[in-house]
Amino acid sequence: MTSSLLPTLPGHHYTDPSIFAAEQELIFEQMWFCAARGEDVATPGAFRTVRVGRESVLVTRGADGGARAFLNVCRHRGAQLCAEESGAVKRTFRCMYHAWAYDLDGKLVAAPNLVKMPDVDRVEYGLHKVHVREWLGYVWVCLADEPPSFERDVMGACVERLGDLASIERYALDALTVGRRIRYDVAANWKLIIENFMECYHCSTIHPELVHVLPEFAGGYAAQYYVGHGAEFGRDVQGFTVDGRAGLRTIPTIAAEQDRRYYAITVKPQVFINLVPDHVIFHRMYPLAADRTIVECDWLYPSEVVASGADLSRSVELFDRVNRQDFEACERCQPGMASRSYAKGGVLVPSEHHIAEFHRWAVARLNPISR
Ligand code: FES
Ligand SMILES: [Fe+2]
Repeated sequence: MTSSLLPTLPGHHYTDPSIFAAEQELIFEQMWFCAARGEDVATPGAFRTVRVGRESVLVTRGADGGARAFLNVCRHRGAQLCAEESGAVKRTFRCMYHAWAYDLDGKLVAAPNLVKMPDVDRVEYGLHKVHVREWLGYVWVCLADEPPSFERDVMGACVERLGDLASIERYALDALTVGRRIRYDVAANWKLIIENFMECYHCSTIHPELVHVLPEFAGGYAAQYYVGHGAEFGRDVQGFTVDGRAGLRTIPTIAAEQDRRYYAITVKPQVFINLVPDHVIFHRMYPLAADRTIVECDWLYPSEVVASGADLSRSVELFDRVNRQDFEACERCQPGMASRSYAKGGVLVPSEHHIAEFHRWAVARLNPISR
C-alpha cells in the first residue's frame, strides 16, 4: 500500500531568489507564455507590454492583422521602447531617447541621420522578435530561440485534461469577449497558486459559494482529478453564479454533456482555464518575484451577451470570491515557506497526490540535463 502522505517541495523553493531566477530563465523564458488577450491588441498598432520571465515584451498587431511580439528594448542604446502597459501607435514605435522608429514588423524605419548611414541594415537593427501564436483568443509568446511544440505543450494540456481538443473548441473562446477583467496582486510564489488551483481539499473549508454550486467539491477531489470529468452543478442550482441562480445565455456550440458542468484545466506554467456553460474564466499569472505574482483573470462571454449590457455581476462575483479566497490562502502560506518548520516541506494527502507530479516537473525544468 502506498503511504497516505507524500512530501511537498522544501520551503526554500518558494522563497529563494536564486531558484526563482532559475525558474524565470528555464521555465518562463523557455516555454509558451500566455501574454495578452487578442482583443487587447485588436487593431494594427494597438499594443500591450507584459513581463515574461526577466524581459518586458511588446505585443502588438501587424498591418496584416497577425499578432507580433518583440523584446521591448531599443536597439540603439537600450531604452525601454514602450513604457505604458497598453496603448496604440499609428505606424511606428518611436523611441523617446534619440527617436529611432520601428514599424509594426519591428523593422528600423527611421532615425535621425539614418540616410547618412547607408551601411546600417534596417532589419538587422530591427527589434528582437519573439515567437507568437494566437489560440483561444489569446496571444502566446515564447522567448526561446527554438520554441517547444505548441501543439504538445499548450494544446496537449487541454487534451490531457478534457480527453480531446474538440471539447475546448466547443466553447469558441476566440469568439468570446472580455466581459470583466480583474487583476490580483498576490503576495505568494507562483507555484503555491498552481498547487492551490490543482486541488480541492480546501474547497469545503474556504469556498462555501463554490461548493454550493458544485456539491461534489465537498469531497475534496478537484474537477481536474479525472480525465474528461466535469463537476456537475447541484440539483437546485440554475447557473454558475454567486447564489446559484440562473446565469447568462449558454454558449451555443457546447455539447449537451458540457451543460451544467464545470471543467478546469491547468496549462503549465501560468494559465488556468475554467469552463462553464455560459462563460469561461481565464487566469494568467505573471510571476514578478519569489513572493509576488500578478494574476490577471478574464471573464469571457459571447459578444452578444456583453453587447446587450446584461448584468454580469452575479456571474463574475462567484469566481472573484473564489479567487480572493484562494489567494488569501496562498498568502497565508507564503511566510510559512521561510519558517524553519517548513525547511523540509509539508505533506500531500491522497486527493493532492497529483501535485507531486507538478513538483517533479518544476524541479526537472531547473535541471536541463534531466529534461
Ligand atoms: S536608445 Fe532608443 S533611440 Fe537611442
Ligand atoms: Fe480554491
